[in-house]
Amino acid sequence: MRKPTHTKILITGAVSLLGRYLIQQLSDRFQLFLAFHRVPQPVISSHPQIRYLSLDVTNLSQVEKTISDTCPDVVIHLAAVSNIEYCQTHPKETRIINIDATSHLCQILSHSPTQLIFTSSSQVFSGQNAPYRETSLPHPVSIYGKTKLSAEKIILKTKSLSATIIRFATMFGWPPDGARENDAIFYLQRLQNTKKIYLVNDRFYNPIYALRAAQIIDKVIKMKTSCIFHVGGQDRVSRYSFVQNLISAFDIKNPPILVPVTGNYFKNFFPRPLDTTLSTGKVKQMLRFTPTSLITDLRHMVNHPLSSD
Ligand SMILES: NC(=O)c1ccc[n+]([C@@H]2O[C@H](COP(=O)([O-])OP(=O)(O)OC[C@H]3O[C@@H](n4cnc5c(N)ncnc54)[C@H](OP(=O)(O)O)[C@@H]3O)[C@@H](O)[C@H]2O)c1
Repeated sequence: MRKPTHTKILITGAVSLLGRYLIQQLSDRFQLFLAFHRVPQPVISSHPQIRYLSLDVTNLSQVEKTISDTCPDVVIHLAAVSNIEYCQTHPKETRIINIDATSHLCQILSHSPTQLIFTSSSQVFSGQNAPYRETSLPHPVSIYGKTKLSAEKIILKTKSLSATIIRFATMFGWPPDGARENDAIFYLQRLQNTKKIYLVNDRFYNPIYALRAAQIIDKVIKMKTSCIFHVGGQDRVSRYSFVQNLISAFDIKNPPILVPVTGNYFKNFFPRPLDTTLSTGKVKQMLRFTPTSLITDLRHMVNHPLSSD
């Protein structure tokens, strides 16, 4: 176990899948300020190093006050609207939260020693030229992807800002109460209560376990240079093969029939890019991160259900 430090970390959007794994990863060594939004103060952990605060990142004076009260060494900015369908139908709200609030945070943190860690997404890519490296040209097709890319550009343009941008592939894991579902949780429920599941078999991604995402963020804390990193899992899969792995890892007896379909089958959904697989060469080399296989991480999920405390 590593030693506790005096480093203070503010996490916006802390009641989230990634927030939960970050708290688990960091709370022994750092003073954490966990900012929650609509979900009332959750008892995520009773650890003495943790303080809770309420924060709407679109409320500019509240953000300024929070930064001046907490004086964080690091801000991990998770707060966002991330549901692709919701973003498509609520573009104005999405821009205000994903772009404007990030821009304001950059202004507050510029010319200060505080490091900003921003969680971006593989959705900044069109899906036509995977696997994507950090040097690949982004071309988002969804509102969500466009707002994440705009926020990235603002961060990179802000003078005297120490910032790390991490583009994550789609994450899975155990979310806290009140947080959004992810593929693992969604399909685990459907595997219990459905006879037949239609699953897209021609769109690809390399999903990342939220625990690994939190471990990567831990590695970039207090990094001196501004940088972009791509982080995804070892395996490139479709939703169809993701669910096959889920059945195997969770040892689900008599699963429903899995029907492979093309992405066009679901007419009501915003079409996903064909292949958003992220290349992980840079994190392997610079951060000594070794991506793990999907089945290994799903088995880890089986054996490590996060409790509510
Ligand atoms: N999950 C993924 O697959 C994935 C992949 C790549 C990147 N990311 C990015 O990684 C970050 C964490 O993702 P996640 O899936 O764990 O969480 P998430 O479901 O995107 O949750 C985001 C958090 O932001 C908060 N939030 C929304 N509007 C806010 C506001 N106005 N003020 C303050 N907080 C606000 C939400 O709180 P309320 O619900 O209470 O509003 C929630 O706690 C996000 O930035 C996401 O875009 C996620």
